Amino acid sequence: MKICCIGAGYVGGPTMAMIAKQCPDISVHVVDLNQARIDAWNSDSLPVYEPGLDAVVAEALPRNLTFSTRVDEAIAESDMIFISVNTPTKTFGVGAGRAANLEFIEKCARQIARVSTGHKIVVEKSTLPVRTAEAVKRILSSADNGATFDVLSNPEFLAEGTAVDDLLNPDRVLIGGESKQAIETLVDIYANWIPRERILTTNLWSSELSKLTANAFLAQRVSSINAISALCEATGADVDEVARAIGTDSRIGPKFLKASVGFGGSCFQKDILNLVYLCEHFGLREVAQYWEQVVSMNDYQKRRFSERIVRTMFNTVSDKKIGVLGFAFKKDTNDTRESAALYVCRDLIRERARLTIYDPRVPETQIRHDLAVACSDLQGQISDIDRKLIENNVTIVHDGYVAAEDAHAIAVLTEWDEFRSLDFDRVYASMQRPAFVFDGRNLLDRDKLTKIGFEIHAIGKSS
Ligand code: NAD
Ligand code: UGA
Repeated sequence: MKICCIGAGYVGGPTMAMIAKQCPDISVHVVDLNQARIDAWNSDSLPVYEPGLDAVVAEALPRNLTFSTRVDEAIAESDMIFISVNTPTKTFGVGAGRAANLEFIEKCARQIARVSTGHKIVVEKSTLPVRTAEAVKRILSSADNGATFDVLSNPEFLAEGTAVDDLLNPDRVLIGGESKQAIETLVDIYANWIPRERILTTNLWSSELSKLTANAFLAQRVSSINAISALCEATGADVDEVARAIGTDSRIGPKFLKASVGFGGSCFQKDILNLVYLCEHFGLREVAQYWEQVVSMNDYQKRRFSERIVRTMFNTVSDKKIGVLGFAFKKDTNDTRESAALYVCRDLIRERARLTIYDPRVPETQIRHDLAVACSDLQGQISDIDRKLIENNVTIVHDGYVAAEDAHAIAVLTEWDEFRSLDFDRVYASMQRPAFVFDGRNLLDRDKLTKIGFEIHAIGKSS
């Protein structure tokens, strides 16, 4: 059997590498328009940092896994075609700022229709608004070369930083479709390593909607605990203690209750806004407002954090040096999309702070590019002032100690393990006084740092 995947990003690359690893008899071809990305997949320096991914790719690459830009050829040769292209929030036209931009999905469907002969199974791997499969089916049915298609929805639930474990041992795989035979073909692939009882099958629309719903529920939990963190700071309660106390109730459960500077990542915000847009489209105003609040709370949390830094540092950070630890949206990934760090850094830059940023996995070019985007409007325009501030007031360094040297404060924005094991006596000795620490991840040992002499401010803890 031959399969291909259009889109070699954070989902297409790892997902297909895992299928290739677990199914040596299936030939897997991953294609993308982005030559640099494909070159990176074929090199020793993969474009996606994920613990354990190197080994998975190394095992499958010489055997049954190919990365290339030969999209037409891959489609023509395959029995099953996954579409795993990006579905970002629209930045223009109707639904701008909310609806999903389905341009890339539609282009893929048209290309598949144009190139295919015989029968193909087309699998939606990207996260899509419910009923997108209807449009995909209509476009595919316009093929004039006699090709026939089944469309399946098979959303991906991996989380970045744990993608390899999530793919090896998922809570469930979800497959929605109309044709029993097509569904069984895909079930058989996953059943090579996943117990069949964990492979759920549903109709197309339930599958599409379950993906948006899962992300909305997960993000809602983070916003819920973050909302409580604000109340903890005001009252003397400790958000970690509250999370533990409620999380031991088996109906609530302990996971996803870690208060933070705000959730980031390419999907939570995009998918909730997409859900909000869909609800509005179907005239469900109250439902839309309910879910939109999850995003508003997250914006509030990010803003609250940077405001707390300014307020605590005597209402001005102008010309003060702040060492920023972490820029990725969570640990163990090089992904910065929608990272809370983008917005906290933007706010501090606009307060004229001097930032020294260190992230173990995010390169300088990426950080500078992201800050410019964070300071730009929807049309991509950045003011001269912001551009100059990024140029002159932001330094990227390659070491946590250098980031903290001579700083008035350090701000922990990503929960990288290595930040926990810094020698804080050394850090303290190199900093200005008072030595402020703003822990946006509740990562550091407050008692230890306080004893050393730091003034520590953490999420959901009164200072
Ligand atoms: P990504 O931006 O990393 O990768 C998408 C890739 O598709 C890009 O490399 C792009 O060049 C390529 N592409 C776009 N149009 C193309 C075309 N016509 N032909 C060939 N290649 C094309 O995106 P991602 O993070 O992998 O996400 C992909 C989808 O999976 C999204 O819908 C996302 O919501 C969903 N998803 C993402 C995650 C995650 O952790 N990132 C998890 C689950 C689901
Ligand atoms: C999330 C979901 O967990 C995946 O199931 C889903 O497939 C994926 O989105 C997607 O569709 O893209 P991901 O965004 O990679 O995965 O990472 P998460 O672990 O969910 O973290 C998201 C954000 O929430 C991070 O910024 C993280 O730091 C934050 N978070 C998470 C918290 O602040 N507190 C928590 O308790 C959990």
